Amino acid sequence: MKPQFTLFYRIWHWTMAFSVIGLLGTVALRKSFLSWRSNAEVIQTQLASVGTDVSFESAKMVAKAIRAPMWEWHYIFALFLAISIVMRLVMVFRDPKIFPLLVFIRAPKEEKLQRGTYFFLCFSLMVMALSGGTLYFYEFLGFTKEGVHWVKELHENVMYAVLLFVSMHLAGVFRHELVTKEGIVSKMIHGD
Ligand code: HEM
Ligand code: HEM
Repeated sequence: MKPQFTLFYRIWHWTMAFSVIGLLGTVALRKSFLSWRSNAEVIQTQLASVGTDVSFESAKMVAKAIRAPMWEWHYIFALFLAISIVMRLVMVFRDPKIFPLLVFIRAPKEEKLQRGTYFFLCFSLMVMALSGGTLYFYEFLGFTKEGVHWVKELHENVMYAVLLFVSMHLAGVFRHELVTKEGIVSKMIHGD
């Protein structure tokens, strides 16, 4: 039988997996420890306690400057996600039968959930990459900030789909590992 977990396939998978985990990590930091809203308040109240009054606008500017180096990682991980998407397109180009939608449609009933999860995961990641790329290059593409507002909303909302399908994927892999004991995770690392 043709090996499934070839080196190229494994490099593709882990490039995609680490970039998505990294992207989600930068969002988690942006929404928690490095949120400009809460940090601007901390800056304002701490400075006020030593007798220095700063406006909320100034505190917000400092809070955003503190967050900026972390958020650069969103774009670094985004580049790796883009590389993994190109790798996947090369794989599909070489063998069109592995196009996720085709695999999902042709899957037997017992594999529908698994293949459906992969299809929707790949689809939502494509939407994230295209919307993220549009937000990053909006000026170059000739859009205004207001003009791409809906793209930002789409980008933020589709993240929940990514979270859902990644969780379903991890639960599926975990279940597969426990039920069949085929060592599927180890195969994804060392090959078959
Ligand atoms: C969070 C980021 C991740 C993403 C975006 C991701 C994405 C994917 C995708 C799209 C596939 C389907 C490949 C295909 O169509 O042939 C896949 C398969 C697989 N993934 Fe992940 N994955 C992630 C994390 C992980 C982790 C953390 C593990 C291990 C613990 C893992 C283990 C596997 C295995 C074993 C398969 C093969 C399953 C099979 O052949 O049915 N993945 N992954
Ligand atoms: C799994 C993939 C991704 C996830 C989950 C994700 C998530 C997010 C979220 C939630 C935001 C909004 C943050 C906020 O305003 O609070 C955001 C913003 C953004 N993302 Fe992504 N993203 C992903 C991939 C990408 C990619 C591939 C790019 C391409 C460069 C990208 C570029 C951007 C840009 C430019 C912004 C706007 C930043 C700003 O307004 O300051 N993202 N992303």
